[in-house]
Amino acid sequence: MYVLGIETSCDETAAAVLEDGKLLRSNVIASQVDLHKIYGGVVPEIASRKHMEMIIPVICEALNGASVTLSDIEGIAVTRGPGLVGSLLVGLSAAKAIAFALKIPFVGVNHLEGHVASIFLSPDHPEFPLVALVVSGGHTNIYLMKDFQDFTVLGQTRDDAAGEAFDKAAKLLNIGYPGGVIIDRLAKKGNRKRIEFPRAMRDSLDFSFSGLKTSLLVYIKKRECPLSEDELPDVAASYQEAIIDVLVEKTLKAAEIHSISRIVVCGGVAANSRLRERFAEESRLKGFHVYIPPPIFCTDNAAMIAVVGWHLLTRGLKDSLNLNAVSRWPLDSLLKHNS
Ligand code: KG4
Ligand code: ZN
Repeated sequence: MYVLGIETSCDETAAAVLEDGKLLRSNVIASQVDLHKIYGGVVPEIASRKHMEMIIPVICEALNGASVTLSDIEGIAVTRGPGLVGSLLVGLSAAKAIAFALKIPFVGVNHLEGHVASIFLSPDHPEFPLVALVVSGGHTNIYLMKDFQDFTVLGQTRDDAAGEAFDKAAKLLNIGYPGGVIIDRLAKKGNRKRIEFPRAMRDSLDFSFSGLKTSLLVYIKKRECPLSEDELPDVAASYQEAIIDVLVEKTLKAAEIHSISRIVVCGGVAANSRLRERFAEESRLKGFHVYIPPPIFCTDNAAMIAVVGWHLLTRGLKDSLNLNAVSRWPLDSLLKHNS
């Protein structure tokens, strides 16, 4: 069964063709990052207009790349939420139009479930149950996942997401956008022990990153002169380590509490090289098996949406053509699909 996946929840217009739930035939991602760079963040109105321009060319490229035509597609999976409603509506409308024209089923997918499902694109993927850390620009959540559509929240951020903490720090340091990739690169040359940034809520599985961001602001403001070129990598490395410490510590603790040995780490921040290294080290020491998708499947893509879609459609779950986009959609309250 060929499923066409479509993702437009934020600033990537993406489409992918997936065969039988695991064979990825194409994966096209048109990033808008250059467009939003000058504003230091995603501008929703600009994002939705760009999605309108790109959605058809991106879908056509995905079909061509997979050497299929629309008539080969048997189901459509599209991100329904959470995300920017104007952006989501572009993908959702395209998906509905294709499903209506071809008289094939379509299903709305939760973006966060998509991030977890990205691990099933790898040949080496875990069985259920598993503990999943979804760590992105908008979310930092730990889940116990027993099956597709079966999530329990074990921990979540009380304020900023980890990706947001990276992006806001890059803004404060005036080193560009998007912050995560730039800090990751800078930190490789830095001394991560130079500054002791705070690690919040150590006794809980919940996260808080706003105090960390404030402590960076205080550190910058206290100084009489701007940070030197030599010092910047040390600040980036110390700040990054403070984020990673709590992500690793709490995820392993959650797995230990629930006696689960399989851990999935996913979402844009899972592309971070130091995070990947730390999870690999600590899990080896403590006997967990950690699965992290390759970086291209950590950041937003439509292949992960197609994976969830395939699982839902093959279980007979689909949605009606009056489905609407949702800006907020917690994973533990998955809205019901029409079957
Ligand atoms: O999953 P994603 O592409 O979009 C959302 O669903 O939010 O995640 C984007 C986030 C951004 O905050 C970005 O700075 C962060 O992921 N990110 C990284 C890296 N690559 C992307 N953070 C740290 N290190 C990276 N290498
Ligand atoms: Zn995402």
